[in-house]
Amino acid sequence: KHVAVLMGGLSNERPVSLSSGKGCAEALRRAGYRVTEVDVGYDIAERLRALQPDVAFNALHGRFGEDGTIQGVLEFLRIPYTHSGVLASALALDKHQAKIMLKAAGIPVTDHVIAGRAEVGRAHVMKPPYVVKPIADGSSFGVLIVKADQSHPPQEILGADWDGGETLMVERYIPGRELTCAVMGGVALPVTEIVTDLAFYNYEAKYSAGGSHHVLPAQISPKIYDKVQKMSLMAHEALGCRGITRTDFRYNDAAGEDGELVCLEINTQPGMTPTSLAPEQALHAGHSFEDLVSWMVEDASC
Ligand code: DAL
Ligand code: MG
Repeated sequence: KHVAVLMGGLSNERPVSLSSGKGCAEALRRAGYRVTEVDVGYDIAERLRALQPDVAFNALHGRFGEDGTIQGVLEFLRIPYTHSGVLASALALDKHQAKIMLKAAGIPVTDHVIAGRAEVGRAHVMKPPYVVKPIADGSSFGVLIVKADQSHPPQEILGADWDGGETLMVERYIPGRELTCAVMGGVALPVTEIVTDLAFYNYEAKYSAGGSHHVLPAQISPKIYDKVQKMSLMAHEALGCRGITRTDFRYNDAAGEDGELVCLEINTQPGMTPTSLAPEQALHAGHSFEDLVSWMVEDASC
């Protein structure tokens, strides 16, 4: 099979996607596929029409790669592709729409408000502590935490060089632990706890060697472990996702008897870099990286 690995792209997560894409392309070659690496730009439709691959392996992240747009191009060209389709991708990358869907499915999510960046920068739109994030980005790009004792709202978002968009999500900050669980082929993989010495699991913690430490399987009660896996599956199904996804949670083990577990978001194009979580969870479940990417290619559809 001829596989076109789509990588790079036009979002803030371009470097992450290049890393995901290179690794996936190499693994697919080792698995015996004929692979073309495609750095995605505005001419992607013409290039794919000329290449005529059997499958497009989507290794893109963020805008134009994870938001339903490239999926729409691939539907139009009738090229089977990996991961979620148009609607699930569009819903998941928009953090506000995703929360509406997750909430409707009975999954607890953090309280939030949506506001323009001028408003968020002018005064606290919520009692601190809270988290400010771009409504449709990934890899913690543009995420700011406003601490309980911080008197002023985040000023960074007002700067001329801000490229986290005009509409922001302001979320209640949940103290405690960071948990994540991928779903592959309708099955929840083992749960990871992410531990970092940095301010939070930010871009640096995610992609620098040693920036964070993964506890796999997470050392949490069987009840919470099970709940994380169940909610990850529910989230995957609620949005109609396909292939692999990864759902992120906050767990405040000091709240009440069982603690408070809330879903932060679902990622339809989870990272596939050397420090990424989903491939590590798949490996723990017995699927090597080569098996994982081969499965994704065979599972592709349009
Ligand atoms: N957005 C990054 C790639 C992730 O969710 O892993
Ligand atoms: Mg994300």
